[in-house]
Amino acid sequence: MRFSFCVAALAASVLALPTPDVETPKETFTVELADGERRQVTEAEKFALKADGKNFFDITEFLDFTPSSLTKRQTVTYPTTLTQGTSVRSLAAKLSSSNMQTNLQPFTEFNNRYYRASTGKQSSDWLLAKVKSYIPAGSVATAAQFTHSFTQSSVIAKIPGKGSKTVVVGAHQDSINGNSPSSGRAPGADDDGSGTVTILEAFRTLLTNSTIASGGAAQTIEFHWYAGEEGGLLGSQAIFSSYSSSGRNVVGMLNQDMTGYTAGYTSAGLTPKFGVITDNVSAALTTFTKRVITAYTIRAYADDECGYACSDHASATRYGFPSAMIFESEMKYENPYIHTTGDTISRVDFAHMVEHAKLVVGFVVELGFAVL
Ligand code: BES
Ligand code: ZN
Repeated sequence: MRFSFCVAALAASVLALPTPDVETPKETFTVELADGERRQVTEAEKFALKADGKNFFDITEFLDFTPSSLTKRQTVTYPTTLTQGTSVRSLAAKLSSSNMQTNLQPFTEFNNRYYRASTGKQSSDWLLAKVKSYIPAGSVATAAQFTHSFTQSSVIAKIPGKGSKTVVVGAHQDSINGNSPSSGRAPGADDDGSGTVTILEAFRTLLTNSTIASGGAAQTIEFHWYAGEEGGLLGSQAIFSSYSSSGRNVVGMLNQDMTGYTAGYTSAGLTPKFGVITDNVSAALTTFTKRVITAYTIRAYADDECGYACSDHASATRYGFPSAMIFESEMKYENPYIHTTGDTISRVDFAHMVEHAKLVVGFVVELGFAVL
């Protein structure tokens, strides 16, 4: 019985035979809401939930996992003093806002970077090529796709260090038009083109340090560009689920989702501040990250909350890896244009993105050379 079912299913999937008289079941997804409730929904219902302000993880491919089933990992003790000031400052001086502009322009020109759209695959391929172009000849660094069940791939760059403890910086590469996800125009300049090119510029800069480029950091350093964040944290869940299963030791993940919108401050004559997200993150890693902000950026910060699993740091947390999330602003000044055609490059502040990039460089070098 079981055997013949499998053969039939295999034949159908391999040959992709049309099945005329049988109604094709609607594609459904399992989502987990903030209170832990699981629901079976269609893609349209997923977007209705989002529009209704109900946020979720799409856990369709991760049904066997519940956060309570995780075996607890050893807690990480972060440094209370920063020791890499000379290297961080010399790297930070090399960060280029015009490089970020040059990269963000073509990235926003894809009609959208929707994770199920052909343009979402094209943008992912563009990104991988760009990441590879920043790896100097002779460096130990590598970059590769992390493929998914949907068309867009995540991109992972790895700079091996002396040990396997791993520092991760992440941003999501996909964009979405909230009214018309699959084909609507979604430049996604701020959300999250800004984070994408911020960490890309930090990656380029870090590899100009010959110790890092040749594998001399204490920790392994990874840069992740997640696919399908807007579909329910899909790429990041797949990656952290896989890292959890294979016993990877991620000592800290810093998420950069939206780094460029400051008009809420500047239009009122105020100086921008970073928003330090305090929910769905590690308190200890967040305290360390605040030290990095103070030491290496000119920005003040204020604690704030997303109020739900708003981005990929929540996937790291879900799989037991410590994460932090530093946002472009306090929530009261949040960008009103995200998920619309109005999320354009003309509305992003590249000087602010340089401050985020300094944060990323400081985070990676301090944690990457720390004795943990
Ligand atoms: N970048 C946003 C999250 C965000 C928006 C954080 C505004 C802080 C302020 C992210 O890409 C997003 O849109 N997330 C979804 C939830 C996700 C689980 C589908 C959202 O907030 O609707
Ligand atoms: Zn985002």
